[in-house]
Amino acid sequence: MLRHPRTVGAVWPTSRRAVEDLLDMGDLGGAGVVVEFGAGTGVYTEGILRRLHPEARFLSYEVDGNLAAAVARRLPDRRLEVIHASAEGVGGHLEALGRKADVVVSSLPFSTLPAPVRQNLLDAAREALAPGGVFLVLQYSKTVLPELERRFPKIRRRFSPMNVPPALLFACEAS
Ligand SMILES: C[S@@+](CC[C@H](N)C(=O)[O-])C[C@H]1O[C@@H](n2cnc3c(N)ncnc32)[C@H](O)[C@@H]1O
Repeated sequence: MLRHPRTVGAVWPTSRRAVEDLLDMGDLGGAGVVVEFGAGTGVYTEGILRRLHPEARFLSYEVDGNLAAAVARRLPDRRLEVIHASAEGVGGHLEALGRKADVVVSSLPFSTLPAPVRQNLLDAAREALAPGGVFLVLQYSKTVLPELERRFPKIRRRFSPMNVPPALLFACEAS
């Protein structure tokens, strides 16, 4: 956080309760392909793996090389591929896989990321989704909501108070 305040955007990892609240908003167990934007310390990665179907594929993006390597080491699982790169590139990886994502999970600090990167990430998330797919987003403010609303016609919202700070949860559907 001290080295990269704008890309990390949080002082503490998300609480287990808030992660579970966010994941409850999608059907992780029924998903064939799941994508994570920003693995960080792996708290969401771990929660996703607990719910993931045994045959599902899971791509997790992290720009910090040390964090990406630590998560890959701590969570060895044949369904999981930790990718040390910006999640902006998810389209290329899904194309190589020949499939789209049923669930995309993001804990990226959208409000502090540079605007062009934020736009690219939101466009990439929308493009990544299979029909009926859902983009699950945890934020600490509503700042990004108008940009989500421009891309996703249906957004369900929840509040998760058991987190420091309390978290806003959005489940965004493109179709
Ligand atoms: C708020 S932290 C949350 C991390 C994790 N979910 C947790 O609670 O430990 C955001 C993470 O996203 C990563 N990140 C920022 N921009 C990214 C991007 N464009 N693509 C992939 N990861 C990114 C940061 O390096 C950081 O680890």
